[in-house]
Amino acid sequence: MAAHLGTALITGATSGIGEVYADRLAKRGYDLVLVGRNADKLQALTASLASTHGVAVERIVADLGETAGLARVERRLETDASITLLVNSAGLVSGGPLSAGNLDDLTSMLTVNVIALTRLASVAAKAFAARQQGKIVNLASAMAFIDTPAAAAYAASKAYVLNLSLSLDLDVKPQGVEVQAVLPGYTRTPMISGGAGLPDEAVMDVDALVDAALAGLDAGELVTIPSLESPALYENWYNERLALQPHLSLSKPAARYAAA
Ligand SMILES: NC(=O)c1ccc[n+]([C@@H]2O[C@H](COP(=O)([O-])OP(=O)(O)OC[C@H]3O[C@@H](n4cnc5c(N)ncnc54)[C@H](OP(=O)(O)O)[C@@H]3O)[C@@H](O)[C@H]2O)c1
Repeated sequence: MAAHLGTALITGATSGIGEVYADRLAKRGYDLVLVGRNADKLQALTASLASTHGVAVERIVADLGETAGLARVERRLETDASITLLVNSAGLVSGGPLSAGNLDDLTSMLTVNVIALTRLASVAAKAFAARQQGKIVNLASAMAFIDTPAAAAYAASKAYVLNLSLSLDLDVKPQGVEVQAVLPGYTRTPMISGGAGLPDEAVMDVDALVDAALAGLDAGELVTIPSLESPALYENWYNERLALQPHLSLSKPAARYAAA
């Protein structure tokens, strides 16, 4: 019998990465609260995960792009003291190039990828900090590091998730709360049509991705890039970023900007 680890609330649990998190966390012994819009899929997952792993599984049918749906999930995070882990996996790619942007699609995407993720992370951070324990896993993306005209707002939303996670960690780590940003590359899920048209060597299977992300969580990593063989490459980037900081806010413009 697995140890009782509390409850994991997983958004995006009806598909892809979130669905595999649900399986793996149930297998570890977490009770689950699964969140998604697809009520039939949620119902089927609830039944199969409960019977396979012998854990309690509940579901919240909620559109995180709508105020009422998001509020229901926030309320659960605020009031359910058994929740020890939030996995923010819900997300979507939409909008296309900004120069041909569909503003409604862009707004829907940013509402889920940025607004919902931020609000849920904030509510969880407050609840977990009060209990001096808990973990927040945010699905960012390797796109956080990639400039791409085809998906500028998606990539920017994932850079936001990385940045948010780095700052959130500084906020809540002293209060006993762990934060992890996971940066998958292409991962074989419906989001990218299973990787159709992409070179095999650039696409990770979703099981391998989630198992690696959980190994990173177990190791206490703040940032997990599952395909990155050499952690020094990320650490170098982070240290260069830190090296910039003393130069970014000073009383005078740099000499090269001196008025002619
Ligand atoms: N697959 C990749 O290559 C890849 C790479 C890097 C990062 N990621 C990130 O990983 C996360 C999971 O992606 P995935 O590949 O697992 O995608 P997926 O298979 O398309 O699943 C997306 C999940 O998000 C949920 N979702 C989307 N819009 C929602 C809304 N308005 N309200 C509530 N739930 C919503 C969906 O649930 P319902 O349809 O039931 O609402 C679904 O469970 C995303 O944040 C994505 O950006 C993916």
